[in-house]
Amino acid sequence: MGRVIALVSGKGGVGKTTITANLGIALAKRGLSVCLLDADIAMANLSLLLNMQNSPITLHDVLLGEATPNDAIYDGPGGVKFMPSGLSLENYRRVDSERLQVVVDVLKPQFDFVLLDCAAGIEKNVLAAISASDEVLLITMPTSPSIADVLKAKITAQRLGAKPIGVIINFVREEKGEIRKDDVMKMLELPVIATVPYDDEVRRSFMQETIMPVMVRKPGTPAAIAIQRAAAKLAGLPVKIEEEKNFLGGFLSSLLSIFKKKQPKKIEEEQA
Ligand SMILES: Nc1ncnc2c1ncn2[C@@H]1O[C@H](COP(=O)(O)OP(=O)(O)OP(=O)(O)O)[C@@H](O)[C@H]1O
Ligand SMILES: [Mg+2]
Repeated sequence: MGRVIALVSGKGGVGKTTITANLGIALAKRGLSVCLLDADIAMANLSLLLNMQNSPITLHDVLLGEATPNDAIYDGPGGVKFMPSGLSLENYRRVDSERLQVVVDVLKPQFDFVLLDCAAGIEKNVLAAISASDEVLLITMPTSPSIADVLKAKITAQRLGAKPIGVIINFVREEKGEIRKDDVMKMLELPVIATVPYDDEVRRSFMQETIMPVMVRKPGTPAAIAIQRAAAKLAGLPVKIEEEKNFLGGFLSSLLSIFKKKQPKKIEEEQA
């Protein structure tokens, strides 16, 4: 049986969709089977980030009883499987999110990890996603409103019987006034699994020319490296950082690799 983890935040726009996609791809690159489930039933963004908005059968169809869960699973980028939510407002109004549990029950035996990208807040659909999950990963910015809201999400998860396992602090700029990692740990009484820096490469992920998670486009960018560490921690694996393909052109790159006796795509091993 796989681990079913909901990514929740309370506050909107803190990076749940970004981290769900990149964390899932980082886990898949470590050889684990991963299904990303877009549980943001109203404002589905995950399919946009994965550039898979044209997937014909979606979670909406499954929740309406018009398709089976396996009908709505697609091959996503970077080795993940993906279940999109559906973009139709009409269907959104008709779906019964309580049936998410049935979907998760079908996915759980098929994958090592099922990651649910939740909506912001703690409204009905978020509660259904948390209830269907075994574990909850909290995503916050290093600012007090975000931490206050994620604390509400943590308490909600505990009430619903899902275990909060840790926090990812996103958008870290190391600026004066940011709430520090140690204080976040104390306030939320949870381990910080990663601090993900603000990274322009991530911001570009939703842009027309570059739509694709950084774990596929630029695994060596600082935010992607932080997420790779989080993935290793989550899976209990030693940290192995995949970095960029060498940016130098073919000739220079192969010349360098002869001198350095390293492949252009380098894997760096460290202690976890
Ligand atoms: N570490 C980061 N550095 C720079 N930009 C980031 C970072 N993380 C996320 N972003 C950008 O912030 C925006 C919001 O991210 P995202 O959509 O992942 O947040 P969310 O929590 O899923 O939002 P919502 O609550 O609306 O579902 C996106 O444009 C994304 O590219
Ligand atoms: Mg989102």
